[in-house]
Amino acid sequence: MSLSIQEKIKSVIRDVPNFPKEGILFKDITPILLNPTLVNELVAAMADQFKNDEIDAVAGIESRGYLFGILLAQKLQVPFIMIRKEGKLPAKTIKESYDLEYGSATIEVHEDAITPNSNVLIHDDLLATGGTAIAAAKLIQQKAKVVGFSFVIELEFLKGIDHLNKINTHTKSLIK
Ligand code: PRP
Ligand code: MG
Repeated sequence: MSLSIQEKIKSVIRDVPNFPKEGILFKDITPILLNPTLVNELVAAMADQFKNDEIDAVAGIESRGYLFGILLAQKLQVPFIMIRKEGKLPAKTIKESYDLEYGSATIEVHEDAITPNSNVLIHDDLLATGGTAIAAAKLIQQKAKVVGFSFVIELEFLKGIDHLNKINTHTKSLIK
């Protein structure tokens, strides 16, 4: 019997204890990238989750949101929007700041990368607390609409989904 895409991904994701600090179990997705057939299947499965949605662009969050985000945009045949950490984009940007465990962070996007009032799907590799995805959504919402969120992995125990649902209930994670 052949394995499902979820089973295949789970079998290659590497759990690294105590990284980046004591007590954290890090989900390392890099082994997926070593298997081009699996990457293809993963992207196809993510695209399939949104086949009934009207999506004008995919916005990926630096940096791990780029790995599959651009491939997802290609699969859906829509533009890919780079959401970057502050200070990296050369042209005119719009910004959004958000709180971290200690201090705060700012993300930004080129203003002309977002078509006004378009339907944007936000992609990232992993949903943890939801802080990053919420900031990305608020950034996109300065000019356009958030049609949903796409993740490869959702860490359900952190309940990030409760925060995302306040913005848009259309969240799809390939594995939990
Ligand atoms: C990780 C991950 C998500 C975010 C999830 O990124 O790739 O973007 O954290 O956490 P949250 O839901 O609690 O906000 P990180 O900031 O480590 O940077 P990277 O993608 O550049 O590795
Ligand atoms: Mg990230």
